[in-house]
Amino acid sequence: MAAGSFRRSIASQLSKVLDLPPENLIKSISAVPVSKKRHVADFQLSIASVIENGSSGCLEHLQAQQLAERLKCDSVVSEISAGPGTVNFTINRELLAKTVLQQVWKDGSEYGIKSELFSTVPRQKAVIEFSSPNIAKKFHIGHLRSTIVGNFIANLKAALGHEVVRINYLGDWGMQFGLLGVGFQSFGNEEKLKSSPLQHLFEVYVQINKAAEDENTKKLAKDFFRKLEDRDEQTLSIWKQFRDLSIEEYIRIYKRLGVHFDEYSGESFYQEKAQEVLKMLEDKGLLQKTIKGTGVVDLSEKKDLSTVSTVMRSDGTSLYITRDLAAAIDRMNKHSWDTMIYVTDKSQSNHFQHLFQILKLMGYDWAERCQHVSFGLVQGMKTRRGEVIFLEDVLNEVRSRMLKNMTSTKTTKEVQDPVETAEKVGLAALIIQDFRGLLSSDYQFSWDRALQSRGDTGVFLQYTHARLHSLEQMHGNAQLTDVNVACLQEPDAISVLQHLLRYDEVLYRSSQDLQPKHIVSYLLTLSHLAAVAHKTLPVKGSTPDVAQARLCLFHAARSVLANGMKLLGITPVTEM
Ligand code: ARG
Repeated sequence: MAAGSFRRSIASQLSKVLDLPPENLIKSISAVPVSKKRHVADFQLSIASVIENGSSGCLEHLQAQQLAERLKCDSVVSEISAGPGTVNFTINRELLAKTVLQQVWKDGSEYGIKSELFSTVPRQKAVIEFSSPNIAKKFHIGHLRSTIVGNFIANLKAALGHEVVRINYLGDWGMQFGLLGVGFQSFGNEEKLKSSPLQHLFEVYVQINKAAEDENTKKLAKDFFRKLEDRDEQTLSIWKQFRDLSIEEYIRIYKRLGVHFDEYSGESFYQEKAQEVLKMLEDKGLLQKTIKGTGVVDLSEKKDLSTVSTVMRSDGTSLYITRDLAAAIDRMNKHSWDTMIYVTDKSQSNHFQHLFQILKLMGYDWAERCQHVSFGLVQGMKTRRGEVIFLEDVLNEVRSRMLKNMTSTKTTKEVQDPVETAEKVGLAALIIQDFRGLLSSDYQFSWDRALQSRGDTGVFLQYTHARLHSLEQMHGNAQLTDVNVACLQEPDAISVLQHLLRYDEVLYRSSQDLQPKHIVSYLLTLSHLAAVAHKTLPVKGSTPDVAQARLCLFHAARSVLANGMKLLGITPVTEM
């Protein structure tokens, strides 16, 4: 029997009594969350949800009590009871243990994903655009958040069987390159450019910005950018060198984060295409000229120009939004995607609203399948060097802080590669701190809070994973065959099993609203439950039967913990 079949089996009995197709009932049956107040029931039918899911009117007066009385226990369900608005089901205890362990074992990294909850979800192609820093400018915390959130969404979609294209829409065009080009002539250094391009270009950019007050520099920068726009070969090759070297370094740093992109197609790529977009807007009668000579699209309902989006400068050049229009259309032509997701902070919400509105006005129905996933602001992330300027600063900072914490605890001496481990644990800390709340909320960043070893942190998840792993190392790998599930009837064992039963529902929720927090709180609870079980259900000193059964339980907990962590973008460590 598969774990999912519990829900099916309950649904099929209900379907006979209620005279409704079982498929309509499955989503109203959910695994009961494990709480401090222990309960015996594993699944719960919500009557409100059955009615809400559009089932027949005769159910309006359905009473939980009456319904519970009409249902019978069978080989799967050992107990049925009624609560306020719910009917509760307890699964046969040995069947529960056996089924959950087998399912985790068999499905491995696909545990929860093969659930019937996903069987009706069509496989899609998703374009996910995230990170998207600007060359020569700061990689700020907003870019870091976009990177980890986008990576999470891409991981989740891919795990659920969707085809995913990961795009980094680099800020690789605009006046900043005019300044940079001129700045490089005065302050540039080829050696430094090659050895650390991001740092060097940023320094040059800061220096030339100071000088840019004077009219001559301004004019030179304008000329340089004009030559770029006119595709002057020599100017382009300087720009290209800046871009190529920057991307090379980005790839290296993203790798430390475990992030990769299928495409680096930045704003520059859409520079020429933006002119075509302006032409299209004109042909469709959507482009209006203002007295100042700029081009706008009227987005107001009454068509009275009360809300407009500027898409063209007075000199005919394109803007940020024009390039985004070109990019969206081009990506549709190239990938024919089903959904496209943009991940940025919420300050760009208006921009994306306008973008989608204009696409719709242009007649692209697929504009409705574009989505902006926005997130709140993070305050107060500083490194020892001060303000965060480069992604690498954050990675180095978290690694060194974590390493310091690790060396102050004695166990770390035996860790094979402490630096590497510190990096993975530190990243887990950053990611969990960021993903714990709703993405839209702002939060105050704190290194100390993130890096605490106890409490709801990424360090705690890593620690639990490492502990469970070493338990398996110590006692030899668990064997699933011949597990005596009668040995797993203690409340602490049942709690772990009940929690494992819920994993598919949690994945489902996150896949619906794209919020990582459901998975985060699930994994934190799993770690707490596993830590308790680890204390109360020792492997060492138990009879072989009991030891073997417990090892299987801990193996299952570790496996699901690792799966969830990987979805969030965390690499589980095996020692720390
Ligand atoms: N480079 C932009 C920035 O740093 C983010 C790009 C967002 N994506 C987009 N398609 N506009 O603010």
